Formats: sequence, structure tokens, C-alpha cells
Amino acid sequence: MVRKLYGLLANPVAHSKSPVMQQAAFAALSYDAVYVPFDVQPEMFATAVAGLRAINVAGFNVSMPYKQRIMAYLDEVDEDAQTLQSVNTVVHQNGKWLGYSTDGLGFWRSLPAGKYSRVVILGAGGAARAIIATGLQQAGVSEITVFNRVSMNFTEHATDLRHLADIELQDLADESNLAKALQQADLLVNTTSVGMRDATSPLTREQMALLSDQATVVDIIYRDAPTTFLELAGQRPKQNGLPMLIAQGAASFEIWTGMQPNIAVMQRAVKKG
Ligand code: ATR
Repeated sequence: MVRKLYGLLANPVAHSKSPVMQQAAFAALSYDAVYVPFDVQPEMFATAVAGLRAINVAGFNVSMPYKQRIMAYLDEVDEDAQTLQSVNTVVHQNGKWLGYSTDGLGFWRSLPAGKYSRVVILGAGGAARAIIATGLQQAGVSEITVFNRVSMNFTEHATDLRHLADIELQDLADESNLAKALQQADLLVNTTSVGMRDATSPLTREQMALLSDQATVVDIIYRDAPTTFLELAGQRPKQNGLPMLIAQGAASFEIWTGMQPNIAVMQRAVKKG
């Protein structure tokens, strides 16, 4: 048996939890593989990808800023990943490189069991699009409302969203619209980077109070200290970005190995760092 090589292509890559998480998952199943982070500069991307081909890598993850760029180098791209124009998982199978996106699947698999009929999403970037595209395929989801600040990206986000899901992007500053959506929401998700590094929140305390007590609140930001957004969610069911991170990694692991990883092992590895 030849030891298999997996890796992560990103820039920067140092902060990523994937290496420790995947390595622990391999070890738990005595799967003879190593997972290495590769910090690839944009001008070296094509060379790095050619190198991975040459050394017969078994598979890899792709993260910022290469999730779209990798697509041109793949033999086949899964339909959902094609729709999203985003690939985070590549597997080498029968001499071919196949690309998938596990971000949206990871998000929905990570949620506590329940019915999420009306969904409100804050932010309209890559993560939001993955969550929305998979969300449309979830049984029980009847409506997804998406809010973004009016920035120089608004028109582009709005066009992308219309094409992806036939959803009209809403202005986060439109108070009455936002209030209505929050009052009806079963699930509220922050996909913006607001609160990642400081104590800011994309919603005020008053806005958060409009949610029902049963509404589930998810912040896809993962950090050790709770975000202000999740603090404002109070006693409602809530989770941070860790379960999504683990579930998308678990989905990649399944694609590579055909086996179910041990989620608890992955969780412990990420928490330990
Ligand atoms: P990701 O892949 O994590 O989704 P992204 O595609 O860069 O990252 O998207 C980031 C999202 O956070 C966008 O919706 C972005 O809004 P803009 O495109 O208008 O910047 C949102 N975001 C980032 N900083 C924000 C802020 N200070 N206030 C509100 N939204 C913010």
C-alpha cells in the first residue's frame, strides 16, 4: 500500500483547521494518508496544480481565493458545484480529477434536527450562495430571504442571486422589510464577516428581539469566544461555525475515502488546534 497524499490549496493557509481535522479523521480509521496545507501564491497556482497532478495526489481541498479558479483544471465538476461556480473538494478517481462543493451540504447537515421553513440569510457572498443553493433542495424550506448592505458589490450579488435561486436581494438597511422577515424566521444565519475580529454584530439587539423564541440562530464565523451576534441570540437554539466546518470536512472525507469519519474525533482535533 502506498501512503495517500491529500492537501489544501489556499492563500493564506496558516489559520486553517482542515489539516489537523482531516489528519485526526484519517488516524481514527487507520487510513494511511497525510493531509498537508499548501500556501500557494496566485502566480504559482497553475504550476502548483500541475505539480499535484504529477505526483498523483489522491485528493485535496480548495479554499480562498481558488474555489472558482480550480474549476478550469478539473476533468468533471459536480452539478451543484457547477451551479455555484465553486469547488472546495477534488478527488482523483480512475485517472480523473472530479470537483465537488461540500460547503452548503456541510451547513445543512450540521443543523439541529428540525423544520426550517422560513430562512433569513445575512450576507450574499460565496458562503451564502452555497447555503442557499443546498437550502433550496432541503425538504421543508419554503422561503429564503437574503439581506446585504448596499455596498459596491450589491448589484453583482443581486444578479448572482437571481440567477442562482430566483431570489431578490434585500437591503439590510430596509428596517420594515427586515423586521417582517425576522418575525417570521425559523432560521437566521449570519454569513457576513461582521463580528469576526471585534464585538460588532450585523443586527442590533432590538432587531434580534424580533425573532421568535424558537428560531434557530447560526453564525458561520468560527472562533473560540462567542460572537456578539450569538450573544444577542440569548436563549434561542444557536450554533457557531464549528459544526459547519466539521460537516463540510466530513463530506470531503467521505468523497475521498468512501467512509464515514468519526465526527467527535474531528471536533476534538479542531478544538485542540
Ligand atoms: P464568504 O466566502 O465567507 O461568503 P465573501 O464572498 O467575501 O465571503 O462574502 C462576505 C459577505 O459579508 C458579503 O455579503 C459582504 O458584503 P459586501 O459584498 O457588501 O462587502 C459581507 N460583509 C463583509 N463586511 C461587511 C460589513 N462590514 N457589513 C455588512 N456586510 C459585510
